[in-house]
Amino acid sequence: MSPAATIELSERIKRIKPSPSMVARDRARALRAQGRDIIDLTAGEPDFETPQHIKDAVVAALAAGETRYTPVNGTPALRQAIVAKLERENGVRYGLDQVTVGTGAKQVIYNALVATVGEGDEVIIPAPYWVSYPDMVLACGGTPVVVACGENAGFKLSAEALEGAITSKTRWVILNSPCNPTGAFYSRDEMRALTDVLVRHPRVALMTDDIYEHIRFDGTEPVCPVEIEPRLKERTLLVNGVSKTYAMTGFRIGYGAGPAGLIGAMNTMQSQSSSCVCSLGQAAAVAALNGDQGFVAEARDAYRARRDRTVELLNAIPGLSCRSPDGAFYVYPSCSGLIGKHTPEGKVLATDFDVVMYFLDEAGVAMLDGTAYGLSPYLRMSIATSLGELEDACARLAQACARLN
Ligand SMILES: Cc1ncc(COP(=O)(O)O)c(C=O)c1O
Repeated sequence: MSPAATIELSERIKRIKPSPSMVARDRARALRAQGRDIIDLTAGEPDFETPQHIKDAVVAALAAGETRYTPVNGTPALRQAIVAKLERENGVRYGLDQVTVGTGAKQVIYNALVATVGEGDEVIIPAPYWVSYPDMVLACGGTPVVVACGENAGFKLSAEALEGAITSKTRWVILNSPCNPTGAFYSRDEMRALTDVLVRHPRVALMTDDIYEHIRFDGTEPVCPVEIEPRLKERTLLVNGVSKTYAMTGFRIGYGAGPAGLIGAMNTMQSQSSSCVCSLGQAAAVAALNGDQGFVAEARDAYRARRDRTVELLNAIPGLSCRSPDGAFYVYPSCSGLIGKHTPEGKVLATDFDVVMYFLDEAGVAMLDGTAYGLSPYLRMSIATSLGELEDACARLAQACARLN
C-alpha cells in the first residue's frame, strides 16, 4: 500500500517557528483550563478596557454602513489622522501616499520586509528583540544579524556596534524603542549617534518600531530619527499602531510612514494578500488618534506604579536582579543567580527556560525565557496586570526561589 499522501511544506515555513509568546500564553491557558491556579505574566497586551469613545466610533461606523472594502492603504480619514499625529507628536510631515495601514504593526513590518528583503540580504536586529523580527526576516529568505546589547549597554545598540554589524548585504536595521522585552528607550543623543552612522551608509534603511511610544515613564520627549536627521527620511520606515497605546490589540490596526516607493510596494503586497484592513477597526483608530488622549496618560501612570513596585519586589529576591525599564509594559530580570541551582526534586536549573518551567510548575507563575528574546539568562514578565496580581506573583517567586539549593 502506498503511504498516505501528505502536503509538503515549503522551505520558507520550515525556516520559522510559531511565536514563542503565543505558545507560552496557550500553555498558561491550558494549565488554567485543567484547574491550576496560574498567574499569567506572558501577556503582550494592555489589561485595560478600550476607551468608550473608541467603542462608540465602531457602533457609529456600523450604523453608517461602513461595512465594505476600504482602499488598500487605509481609509483617507485614517491616513489623515496618522499624518496629523506624526506632525503633532513627532514633528515630521508625510503625505497621504506616504502612509499605509495594515493588520497591526506586525503586518506592516512583514509587508515592508517582503517588499525589500531577498535571499542573502541581511537585517540588523539588536538583542534582546521582539520575537517576530528574526522569523519574519527568515521567512523572506534574509539573514537576521543579531547584535547582542547587554545589560551594561542598557540593552541598547551603540553606534560602534551598529557600524561593526553593517556589511555590503545589510538592507535594514530595526530599532524598537521603548523595547519589548527590556523597556529600553533611546534618548535623543543615543538616536543621533545611530543616525550619524546611517548617514554614512546610504544603502542601509532604518525601520523604527514605535508601538510602545506612549508608554514612557520618566518624562522623556518622543524621539523620532527622521526629525533628528531629515536626510534619512527617504530610507526610514516609521512603524506604529494603536494596539498598545489605546488598549486596542483586537482591532488589529497598525501603520507605517515612509518613502512613497516603499509604501507603494507594501500596498501591492497587501492588495494581493489581505486587500485591506477591517473597516470598523479603521473607524475606531480614527477616534483613537483624533479623540481625547486622557486614557494614554492614565494607563502610563498605572504601568509606572506597577513597574516601580515589581522592580522593588524582584530585586528583593535572592537570585534575581532587575533593571528598571524606561518604558513599555514588561520587566526583564536577570536570573543568572538561579542558574546551577537545584530544585527540591534535584533537577539542575541549567537555562532560563528551565527557570521559567520551574516557576510555572512550582509557583504557578507563567513568564517567558530570555532565550526566546535573544539574550539570556533573563525572564520576561508582563506588568500589564493588576498591582495585586504582580505582588502575589513576586511573593510566589520568592517562595519558589527559597526552595532551591
Ligand atoms: C515590539 C512589538 N512590535 C509590534 C507588535 C505588534 O503589534 P500589533 O498588535 O500592532 O500587530 C508587538 C506586539 O506584541 C510588539 O511587542
